[in-house]
Amino acid sequence: MMMKIRITLNGKSISLEVPAHRLLLDLLRDEIGLTGTKEGCGTGDCGACTVFLNGKPVNSCLILSGELDGAEIVTIEGLKIGPELHPIQKAFIQDGGVQCGYCTSGMLMMSKALLDENLNPTEEEIRFALSGNLCRCTGYAKIVQAVQDAAAELRRMRAEG
Ligand code: FES
Ligand code: FES
Repeated sequence: MMMKIRITLNGKSISLEVPAHRLLLDLLRDEIGLTGTKEGCGTGDCGACTVFLNGKPVNSCLILSGELDGAEIVTIEGLKIGPELHPIQKAFIQDGGVQCGYCTSGMLMMSKALLDENLNPTEEEIRFALSGNLCRCTGYAKIVQAVQDAAAELRRMRAEG
């Protein structure tokens, strides 16, 4: 069944006609052309497809387009602040938290969700927040370091107003 939906995607309102059963992940990548969101498992287990839906991180491989009318969605393409990479993106690059990059957009979105709630997380809190995001390359230590460094930079930016 085709459905008309209107969504706000990375700050822009768009209307689409889509099959109600089409996955949000496929909608983003194949219909809209935003390929930064990755498909790993396709079953909700790896976190590579994480996006924000109405302000909360979700696995886009588990969301149907028919659920999306009126929704606000932010993908990795919407993470930048103006023309600048987000401090979380900069920290991942600086600290070597990106290797093959397949997990990276999901890691970044989930890290942002954590830092939106807690700008001073412990290592344990970071590891817990990212426990649904799998990485086969980095061994996680550099990712944890990057989140800690991004948190420090965001605290500094907040203190400077
Ligand atoms: S592709 Fe969605 S959780 Fe793995
Ligand atoms: S950097 Fe390769 S899977 Fe994480």
